[in-house]
This record gives sequence, C-alpha cells and structure tokens, in this order.
Amino acid sequence: MEIFIDSAKISEIEKWLEMGVIDGVTTNPSIMFNDGVYDAEAGAKEIAALVNPKPTCVEVTTNDLDEMLIQAQEFASWAPNIVIKIPHITQDGIPCYGVIRQLEAERIKVNATAAMSIGQVMLAAKVGATYVSIFTGRVADEGGNAVEVIRNSVDWLERWKFKSKIIIGSIRSVGDILSAAIAGAHIITIPPQFLGKMADHKYTRETVRQFVNDAQKALEMMKKVRGS
Ligand code: E4P
Repeated sequence: MEIFIDSAKISEIEKWLEMGVIDGVTTNPSIMFNDGVYDAEAGAKEIAALVNPKPTCVEVTTNDLDEMLIQAQEFASWAPNIVIKIPHITQDGIPCYGVIRQLEAERIKVNATAAMSIGQVMLAAKVGATYVSIFTGRVADEGGNAVEVIRNSVDWLERWKFKSKIIIGSIRSVGDILSAAIAGAHIITIPPQFLGKMADHKYTRETVRQFVNDAQKALEMMKKVRGS
C-alpha cells in the first residue's frame, strides 16, 4: 500500500518525503488555498520538483469540458510527474469520462476525483483512469458505508484486472486510515497532522523515556564503578 500526503505545504511534504514515508502528493484548489498557495502553477511546480519522480496531483478548476481538457494539458506540461485530477462529474452533473479517456490516450495520467460510489469507480476504470479517488470522509458524512465502498471497489477492479488504483482521500481521523488500509485501499492520501498522530503514542514516549533514563543511570554507575 502506498501513502500520499494530502497537502500543498512544502515544509510538511519535505519533512515526510525525507523520512521516506510518502509515495506521492495530492492537492486540490481548497488545499492550495488553505495552505496559502495562491499561485497554483508556481506551487504545483515547486511540489512536483521536490518529489520528482513521485506523482503530484493537481486539479482542474472549471466545469466546462473543453476548457478542462485544455487546462489539464497545460497543467501536465508543468512537470513530467504531474497527475491531473478530473472530477467524475461537473457541479451540474455532466459526466467527465470523455475528458479522462482523452487525457489517458494522450499519456497524461488522470486521478478521477471526488468519487463517492462504486458506480463512479467502475466508469472511471472503464475509461482508463490511472487513479480513482474515493472521498471516504464525505461518503461517511452522508451516512454511507465508506469501508464497504472501498472493499467493493478494490475487489471489483482486481477481479476484472483494471489498471486503476484506488486512492482514499477525505481522511478525518487515524481510524479512517486504518479502516481504509484494512479494506484494501491501494493508496491512502493523508493530511500531515494525521501522519504525526499515526506516529505518536503516549506509551511509546513513556517507554522511550524509561530506556533513555536507565541508559543514563547505567552510564553514571559505570563512571562510579570505574572511578572506585
Ligand atoms: C484528496 O485527493 C482530496 O482532495 C482530499 O482528501 C479531500 O478532502 P476533504 O473531503 O477533507 O476536502
């Protein structure tokens, strides 16, 4: 299973990249805005250069399908490791699968984003999307069974040998991460605060504190014994 970071914050991406934890980056216009990245082109280029050759997902910002295609082609030209996020449908419900098919035919990798159902996963897989992002936090917001959507999607893709990989996004807790991992997610994209929470445990801290203290005490004893 791969881990992506769901962030546009360079300092966080750099930190987790250096540790060897992350395999890619996802952004969207809200993440960029909230992380203070107002110039999407400059921000995307900086992230893509930092993580190269790992994927950096950048989302189109229009509801017009022709414009979407042009934007996607332009964004993809910014760096070789940029993956284009195309929503399954526009805000008015128009399917975007033709755009996804066209981009993949041009060898531009697509992350079919904001999926909430296995039906959407099937359609994106059929048109050759490299990645399909299921927003499990948002599925759960509406009372949906996120784990079931993940498990069924992964099983279906694998049964029929589609190339699409499922990315789980919209993570709201460490529990969401663990449930997605156990349900078989290929990739989970994690906001940096939850990477920190995953690593932390008060009893691990206490255990390490005990070992460091005892090592210190042993050192003092050794000095005492040698000195006597
Ligand atoms: C990831 O690709 C998504 O853009 C992100 O996880 C969405 O999260 P949200 O539902 O918290 O906005």
